[in-house]
Amino acid sequence: KGQYIYDEHGREYLDCINNVSHVGHCHPDVVKAAHEQNQLLNTNSRYLHDNLVDYAKRLSKTLPEKLCTFYFLNSGSEANDLALRLARQYTKHEDVIVLDHAYHGHLTSLIDISPYKFRNLEGQKEWVHVAPLPDTYRGIYREDHKDSVLAYANEVKKIIDQAQKKGRKIAAFFIESLPSVGGQIIPPEGYFQMIAEHVHKAGGVFVADEIQVGFGRVGKCFWAFQLQGEDFVPDIVTMGKPMGNGHPIACVATTKEIAEAFADTGVEYFNTFGGNPVSCAIGLAVLDVIEKEHLQAHATQVGNFLMELLNQQKVKHPIIGDVRGVGLFIGVDLIKDQEKRTPATKEAEYLITRFKREYILLSTDGPGRNVLKFKPPLCFTMDNAKLVVDKMDEILTGDEFEAVGPKSQNCFAPVKARPSLPIVKLKAILENFGLNLSSEAL
Ligand SMILES: Cc1ncc(COP(=O)(O)O)c(C=O)c1O
Repeated sequence: KGQYIYDEHGREYLDCINNVSHVGHCHPDVVKAAHEQNQLLNTNSRYLHDNLVDYAKRLSKTLPEKLCTFYFLNSGSEANDLALRLARQYTKHEDVIVLDHAYHGHLTSLIDISPYKFRNLEGQKEWVHVAPLPDTYRGIYREDHKDSVLAYANEVKKIIDQAQKKGRKIAAFFIESLPSVGGQIIPPEGYFQMIAEHVHKAGGVFVADEIQVGFGRVGKCFWAFQLQGEDFVPDIVTMGKPMGNGHPIACVATTKEIAEAFADTGVEYFNTFGGNPVSCAIGLAVLDVIEKEHLQAHATQVGNFLMELLNQQKVKHPIIGDVRGVGLFIGVDLIKDQEKRTPATKEAEYLITRFKREYILLSTDGPGRNVLKFKPPLCFTMDNAKLVVDKMDEILTGDEFEAVGPKSQNCFAPVKARPSLPIVKLKAILENFGLNLSSEAL
């Protein structure tokens, strides 16, 4: 319920990372919308249904006018794969530029454009080009650089020039509007506009992946790409995760020109489940809840408060190198030393393990797995924020962290008794050894 989840013993966990249960776990309005539409009709999208059109209309109100064509799908991966097809069909080019450490999905085509994955597999395809993350904290151009926006944009220009020298042609630049797997990065304002100019000049299109960060998470805007300024409009926007509050639904929004070029192939777009009446009823309900409960304003208010508390911790604990974020998308970059900003990977892992024992679910991201990521359901409260930060302070201050934290290899020494093993688990373990736990014993 809301920002809480419960285990089989009814123990309550505060969920600080679930950007799928966007308006809160099991939100009654969303559950009701699904149930009511399920009782009426659910079928594939060969059958036209008002929900599909109503939903596309509602989504179009959140986007710049130019993005007026919508394709519905069932997962973020499907959305990015379609975006790739649209880009290639429209530009008649093949190559893609992506940011380092990016993740865009699990399909074959998307593993190829996800350095986060392909670096551990067969490697980089010749049609893929990787640009540096525009990370002004630990990237190649930092906050002390006189024009980091221009410097990072020039890196992309360099990549385009080099690719063109080899006779390659750019179809698209894919970017998560706020790179999350990359370490909760906030690209500097104006970066997208500069890149779009270079990419357009090369005949390519700009794809904004909003699969994690869209739908009002950033508070002041509905879409994270809008943080770059009103003058910026991507050519394609992909959406997923929060869209159905846990129900599988995704979308690609694009321009009329790109959609027409795609239709010109004569090969129709068909997706059995994409845009079915139940998915669209759920999508509409999510939009209603965001509006009705003023969740964007709430994300700003609670996010600012959380950032303020975290910044107070930064002054107190040198392990906190950077606190960055917008709305309820926040990263806490943990470091071993101020000068080199070496990622405090083990310490970060230790912290999230400890948080879990306190019934708080947090996680890490970034190439060094040292960035604590906050992306809770948008109903997360000020009290929740205070609880987490107080707990963080307690752990970082205590002997426990001194003893087993940064100064020792043994980060995971038990610090206090874990809650007792659930009976079902105990039973399964015993059964593994051929032993039985009798019901009397239970
Ligand atoms: C930024 C981004 N794009 C795309 C995807 C793929 O979405 P899905 O898992 O729904 O296929 C993910 C999933 O984690 C993601 O984080």
